[in-house]
Amino acid sequence: MRVLVTGGAGFIGSAVCHALVARGAFVINVDKLTYAANPRSLDAIAHDAHYAFERLDICDRAAMDAVLAKHQPTAVLHLAAESHVDRSITGAAAFIDTNITGTYHLLEAARHYCADLPSARREAFRFVHVSTDEVYGSLGADGRFHEDTPYRPSSPYSASKAASDHLAQAWHRTYGLPVIVSNCSNNYGPRQFPEKLIPLTILKALAGEALPVYGDGSNVRDWLHVEDHAAGLIALVERGRPGERYNFGGESERSNLAVVEHICATLDRLVAAGKPRRTLISFVTDRPGHDQRYAIDASKVRRELGWKPRRHFEAGLEQTVQWYLDNRAWWEPLRARVYGGERLGLLEPTH
Ligand SMILES: NC(=O)c1ccc[n+]([C@@H]2O[C@H](COP(=O)([O-])OP(=O)(O)OC[C@H]3O[C@@H](n4cnc5c(N)ncnc54)[C@H](O)[C@@H]3O)[C@@H](O)[C@H]2O)c1
Repeated sequence: MRVLVTGGAGFIGSAVCHALVARGAFVINVDKLTYAANPRSLDAIAHDAHYAFERLDICDRAAMDAVLAKHQPTAVLHLAAESHVDRSITGAAAFIDTNITGTYHLLEAARHYCADLPSARREAFRFVHVSTDEVYGSLGADGRFHEDTPYRPSSPYSASKAASDHLAQAWHRTYGLPVIVSNCSNNYGPRQFPEKLIPLTILKALAGEALPVYGDGSNVRDWLHVEDHAAGLIALVERGRPGERYNFGGESERSNLAVVEHICATLDRLVAAGKPRRTLISFVTDRPGHDQRYAIDASKVRRELGWKPRRHFEAGLEQTVQWYLDNRAWWEPLRARVYGGERLGLLEPTH
């Protein structure tokens, strides 16, 4: 396997690169290194003979053609994206550029690359497009997302992901590119940029800062450990059926408030503080367009590929908290220079 991973310096992409190298695959990591990337996430494999890094923008079609021709991958695992909903609310342009236009350029480059392959390699080629459960919109108290649930994205982020998913599927239907789409619930685990709920809460709680909870904290997300997701994506490269969509979830629905309270309790146990950290919780203005609940039916991928989540959420969360305690050198420079934890994604007051 020679897998070209886009976005491999990000949270999920770096976990995918580690898992692929451990599996003996050759990995070509194509990443533009935006604010969300952290090359330190790849320290352990940076000098591995099975790993190559190319600093490139997926919107650069000529560069995508050249990198495919140079490295001759057997598959593309496409994760590069602008990924933070709050940032998409105040600045959607980068989301349109990378998530939609960038995916278009990558699909076109892969289509032409694939067409020129000898037939056996063309048959075996795969393009796995990584998406999110957020494209399905918001659920009420009941029900779960299935692979045929209609798309109803709420945020500029999820709308841009939905658009890219439609492009990926159209490139399969129209051009026969062997595309597989995955829709996954919220990921957590080591090396997540500290703008997302779990690392943001861990780092603020450690610093004794107020812990923002949007609205009343009742919004529910399903959580999947990033290493379980990486294993599922590799299963799609190896055994997924072209033209199909697969949902991934962790069977771990939790309200945002429950997640924040659990982080507080875990930290209180691991690092003593003067007062329980849950007293730092502060309910703040809700996110505009905030989806109430996401829940995934992952029975298809379980049935067809034998994939299931391995980690229990509370155990995985404790391991994640411990990872941030043990890896200050990974996150301290980000907090000091890239993102200090300020509120993002509020609409400007209109006059
Ligand atoms: N994090 C989640 O909970 C989650 C859940 C489901 C699906 N996803 C999807 O998985 C993928 C990865 O998510 P993540 O959380 O790891 O994101 P991330 O923000 O941590 O990383 C994104 C990476 O993509 C790179 N990138 C951005 N624009 C690029 C461009 N134009 N060209 C090349 N590289 C570029 C960044 O430098 C970064 O390394 C995304 O497509 C996201 O939509 C994420």
